[in-house]
Amino acid sequence: MQKTQNLSIVIFGASGDLTYKKLIPALYALFQQQMLPLQFRVLGVGRSPFSDEDFRLKMLEGIRQYSEKYHLDEVIILSFLENLRYLTMDPEDEKDFEKLKSTLDNYDREINTNGNCLFYLSMPPNKFGVVANNLGKVGLNNEIQGFKRLIVEKPFGYDFESGLELNRKLHQAFDESQIYRIDHYLGKETVQNILVMRFSNGIFEPLWNRNFIHHVEITSSESIGVEKRGGYYDGSGALRDMLQNHLLQVLGLVAMEPPSSMDSDAIRNETLKVLQSLQPIQEENVDKQVIRGQYVASHIKGELARGYREEPQVDPDSRTETYVAVKLFIDNWRWGGVPFYIRTGKRLPTRVTEIVVHFKPTPHGLFWDKGEERNQNQLIIRIQPDEGILMKFGLKMPGAGYKVKTVNMDFHYSDLLDTHLPSAYERLIYDAMLGDSTLYARADAVEAAWRFVAPIQKAWKENHDIKIYGYPAGTWGPENADELIEDKEITWRYPCKNLADDGNYCEL
Ligand code: BG6
Repeated sequence: MQKTQNLSIVIFGASGDLTYKKLIPALYALFQQQMLPLQFRVLGVGRSPFSDEDFRLKMLEGIRQYSEKYHLDEVIILSFLENLRYLTMDPEDEKDFEKLKSTLDNYDREINTNGNCLFYLSMPPNKFGVVANNLGKVGLNNEIQGFKRLIVEKPFGYDFESGLELNRKLHQAFDESQIYRIDHYLGKETVQNILVMRFSNGIFEPLWNRNFIHHVEITSSESIGVEKRGGYYDGSGALRDMLQNHLLQVLGLVAMEPPSSMDSDAIRNETLKVLQSLQPIQEENVDKQVIRGQYVASHIKGELARGYREEPQVDPDSRTETYVAVKLFIDNWRWGGVPFYIRTGKRLPTRVTEIVVHFKPTPHGLFWDKGEERNQNQLIIRIQPDEGILMKFGLKMPGAGYKVKTVNMDFHYSDLLDTHLPSAYERLIYDAMLGDSTLYARADAVEAAWRFVAPIQKAWKENHDIKIYGYPAGTWGPENADELIEDKEITWRYPCKNLADDGNYCEL
């Protein structure tokens, strides 16, 4: 395990949900595993007036409620909490940054941080620019003594222009190498495993191209609705909330060329190339290549589930999509002509994220020509839940003749005894402390992703003939999404909670 250096971690927006539910439990988990440096301070900052003690008590609740049980140890929690401090300040007021600077200087004297600081902006994105700027004004951006790194949370803009503008503002005070744009999907073990699967095994890479792959599906479904986030979500929608960032980043790993090394820029250069090679969807084709939907009220397991427009803080006439499915192509030598289907939505039957690689059928139908089921190999990379890998292949059924049945071969992470999957935030914060930005989104990749979704956003905004389909809460989204897949013998995989199951009858 690499050693982290003494530092101060400053969390802007410390009274918000993210700090309480994710960041502090992740920092505590790192502390419990002795992955934090010997000396550190976590300084929560925000307008809400808290004392150090109030802040610690609130974070204690967060740790108890949101940490994995196997990390919990009351003695260790108490010693972790001793490192927490709180500073009441206005992140938009330049003058308050002098206070912040002298607090951090004091920590340097007390625990020898050598000026190392990690700033975590867990706040609305329209504040990123001003905070970065204010940090710059008091010199908390310069690395003459110690590193200064800035972690920012999505959304990185709401369209191409605002994405550019945000990058421009961040770059006024910080160099790109100091900026860590968090995409928590990249922090998931199973997402990182895509790289290991592809590039540490000799058997997949020779097949990983248009000669052998028929199409690829990426699904990220959620069974929950928008819950308390209606206010944010109604201004965002599935395209911006999930596809532009998480799912295009996953696509980058699935489709990239082998990087020259495991160096952060070598890997991110390959992601960028994939995003730059996405075939632009022409505005006039948006209704053919993109299906959007919105959940409507229905009954799930006998209980009434309200529709999206009835959710709190959602406009009762909202046209925000809670589901989106896209058919896209990557214009390069490896993937030319291979369709990629990506779908994501809320209030679908189950929570699953997975990649399904569909291989081409055999060129000669020795068995299926005789009326047998056409076997097409599938490789399923399950990101969550029941994390693992599944291969589907044809097997001769015992007995007379050659009856072929598709069977499964699977690996589940849960089979690795005594091994726990760390939370995405644990991995990402640890990497930022080490200065490893491999699993963070780079400015150019974020811009390329916005460039790809821009015509979709434009067509939806300007062409009111493009339908938004209602789908009953608890179903797999609009049926029209099936039509994206032109081959009539093929449908989306309908995954279940358990990796090995699919179809209509499964545990959800
Ligand atoms: C977030 C989105 O980025 O990802 C949420 O804003 C979504 O709307 C969440 O629910 C999904 O993350 P996960 O890790 O639960 O798949």
